[in-house]
Amino acid sequence: MSQHFQHDVLVIGSGAAGLTLALTLPSHLKIVVLSKGNLSNGSTYWAQGGVAAVLDDTDTIDSHVQDTLVAGAGLCQEDAVRFTVEHSRAAIQWLIDQGVPFTRDDKSDHEDGFEYHLTREGGHSHRRIIHAADATGAAIFNTLLEQARQRPNIELLEQRVAVDLITERKLGLEGQRCLGAYVLNRGTSEVDTFHARFTILASGGASKVYLYTSNPDGACGDGIAMAWRAGCRVGNLEFNQFHPTCLYHPQAKSFLITEAVRGEGGLLKLPNGERFMQRFDERAELAPRDVVARAIDHEMKRLGIDCVYLDISHKPAEFVKSHFPTVYERCLDFGIDITRQPIPVVPAAHYTCGGVVVDQHGRTDIPGLYAIGETSFTGLHGANRMASNSLLECFVYGHSAAEDIVQQLPDVTMPENLPTWDASQVTDSDEDVIIAHNWDELRRFMWDYVGIVRTNKRLQRAQHRVRLLLSEIDEFYSNYKVSRDLIELRNLAQVAELIIRSAMLRHESRGLHYTLDYPDQLPDARDTILAPPTFGD
Ligand code: FUM
Repeated sequence: MSQHFQHDVLVIGSGAAGLTLALTLPSHLKIVVLSKGNLSNGSTYWAQGGVAAVLDDTDTIDSHVQDTLVAGAGLCQEDAVRFTVEHSRAAIQWLIDQGVPFTRDDKSDHEDGFEYHLTREGGHSHRRIIHAADATGAAIFNTLLEQARQRPNIELLEQRVAVDLITERKLGLEGQRCLGAYVLNRGTSEVDTFHARFTILASGGASKVYLYTSNPDGACGDGIAMAWRAGCRVGNLEFNQFHPTCLYHPQAKSFLITEAVRGEGGLLKLPNGERFMQRFDERAELAPRDVVARAIDHEMKRLGIDCVYLDISHKPAEFVKSHFPTVYERCLDFGIDITRQPIPVVPAAHYTCGGVVVDQHGRTDIPGLYAIGETSFTGLHGANRMASNSLLECFVYGHSAAEDIVQQLPDVTMPENLPTWDASQVTDSDEDVIIAHNWDELRRFMWDYVGIVRTNKRLQRAQHRVRLLLSEIDEFYSNYKVSRDLIELRNLAQVAELIIRSAMLRHESRGLHYTLDYPDQLPDARDTILAPPTFGD
């Protein structure tokens, strides 16, 4: 039997953004946080690098803002960048107060007693990345989860896959408000109804749309697809960031080699040991990610090689092991001793810079619906996200969305009598091979045609294929019971279609969007905003 639940706040996604929001809201509110797998399956847990913030006496807000604007290639919204950076110190203090064990710096000589080690990553002109060795995401996630577990008003539910949002418009009611979501309980295989006064999409990005990705399996763009279907605009989805250095090994699925390795002196080399980055950018290994990923892609294609190498073996072994214990251990599992050998690396899809259009409080186009973290498009990242700005965005917008909800609370009542999910017309699928096949096909043509280097022809091919897939998936969805795989495939295909459409609209090369047909940058920097057919109804 499917069930009904009522909460003040429904949070879809259990990563940094969702947990921050849940922990920041007042404790009299009834909050539920949903995870479609185990709570730790999201991208936050796997983040290695850290959180960018202005913490050093010699650093300034203007400098962090300027670096972000430069990396964003003219498309960052300066007010969003400034808002985020200005709140960075407070966000870090909040994390320290929660108990996050950031790496300390014994040699710190800060006048203000600041005692944490700051590392450096591409695009940053200062050391400003606070981190917990090379497993920052896990340290943050474990701390926030522990705090959330101690809060009786926060319910944490695993194996719950949101299918679609419930809105007044979809129900044919007067008004536009979001009223909650239909959610598949993987334990009972029933679709439950979650009513909520406020619904938050904090479900991460869509990098799983590509064959090779640094992201965990769940990064299917669920929040972006659900928001789009509900009537929200999306922005700048053509800008998907490819991380330059993922471990290249047949058994190493999605393992990232943190950019901090380059920040601490790691060098990129060809198989013959020759460095190449200085040929592409004067910042060499510390150029922004789009530049580094494209340079690697170029060298791999030019030389017909399977990977390039990242070498930090010239640094003392103790330094390498203490700064990068996770990378060291993981590479050793595959027979690579990074204190003595270079690491084979390739680029892989890493971060969705665009997303659901939101304002400075994470408010979407639909009242009562918020998007925060990688799901959202705040204007912070522009055409290329600067390293470690994304976790910062989760904390800053998690707080500002919570503040906004508190302000609106008195005026918003609990939705009543929502219709339950209607499964009377569907049966069990007898052809799950279609889901597996379409999933593989989608991710492969996205990699081949909508990857690091694009052309009009490749995008047209991809668009043709994705439209066929979407109609097949729609038919399947109308006739068969939903499963996690089907829900994710439906969302992935929707977001893929939006990525392709956005890429086709950009007749220039800028930041992460590079096309051989329009290699130059236009003088005017414009966002690509797509509105669904129902927008403004
Ligand atoms: O390279 C890294 O550790 C990744 C950092 C980021 O994506 O911000």
